[in-house]
Amino acid sequence: MSSELQDFLHDENLDGFLVLTKINRQYLSGFTGSSGMFLITKKRMQLFVDGRYTLRAKKESAAVVKDIDKLALELKRQKIKKLAIEDKITLAQFGWLKVNLKGVKWEITKDIIENIRAVKTKEELKCISKGSRIIDQVFRHIAKFLKQKRGLRELDIALEIEKTGKKLGAEEMAFDPIVAFGPNAASPHHFPGKQKIGRNNFLLFDFGMKINGYHSDFTRTLFLGKPSNQQARVYNTVLAAQQKAIEKVRIGIKASEVDKAARGFIQKKKYGKYFTHNTGHGVGLEIHELPNFSEKSKDVLAENMIVTVEPGIYLPKKFGVRIEDMVLVSKKSRIISSLPKDLTSMIIP
Ligand code: CO
Repeated sequence: MSSELQDFLHDENLDGFLVLTKINRQYLSGFTGSSGMFLITKKRMQLFVDGRYTLRAKKESAAVVKDIDKLALELKRQKIKKLAIEDKITLAQFGWLKVNLKGVKWEITKDIIENIRAVKTKEELKCISKGSRIIDQVFRHIAKFLKQKRGLRELDIALEIEKTGKKLGAEEMAFDPIVAFGPNAASPHHFPGKQKIGRNNFLLFDFGMKINGYHSDFTRTLFLGKPSNQQARVYNTVLAAQQKAIEKVRIGIKASEVDKAARGFIQKKKYGKYFTHNTGHGVGLEIHELPNFSEKSKDVLAENMIVTVEPGIYLPKKFGVRIEDMVLVSKKSRIISSLPKDLTSMIIP
């Protein structure tokens, strides 16, 4: 049982935590179903599900599995009066709690389990590293594929990424792969379409694999042909910004400082208004989780967090460049991918 969660209950003088959101419930109990309630008290861990999920819950979770109808009785039996709930539950769920579990005081909490999830265990790190190894292989394959075949469309490549990733052991994609050629890459979350991969422009890839529920995240921007001075300047600005931000990633630093390293550099090079998103985020059971690298972030980095660092510059109607790596926060932080990213390595002549 998470000792941080026990400390939280103790410090806040709470009798327990009733976890309803899917990913937090899965993280703490192992149960992957879409409905259920996980109750942690100072002494017990119990998973309450309806009849549809009983067998699956017993198979997946080490906690005692009970029928959801027994929850009220169980709270009474354990004399539970004050329970933490998450601020992300639905109003319908909150309504249900108030009607069905009378006499309980609700303490609405924010990001308690999310902050615990940000720090990865050895097992979690293994899943994410495996995802990253598959990404590296897929990317090498795609670079070759592009050299061999002409006239490919964005969606042909997206499909090839998915096919290759699954063949190499990914259960699914971490999200729909982004493949964006030329002006399409100026939209950070472009959806791959029938656009043909042409010449003398950038081709941006952003994709990740899912292993045992754990996501991974990665972006490279290739160039087909010969880059102009402006194209090379933008690429190298993004690359240097990413390197400056990665150098900052260490135990105890504020997430906003990492954002500032990348954003400040891009602003200095006069591309500030073309860097339109955060510098990065944590990765785990969700593709975007804590910590969050933004100007206003209050997060602080801790050992064994996995974070992405992914600055970008997007010039409307022209092109976009983003470079993203996952970094393991430790005494000596380490980039997880082994793929190069200097401009020369990214050029397909
Ligand atoms: Co990302």
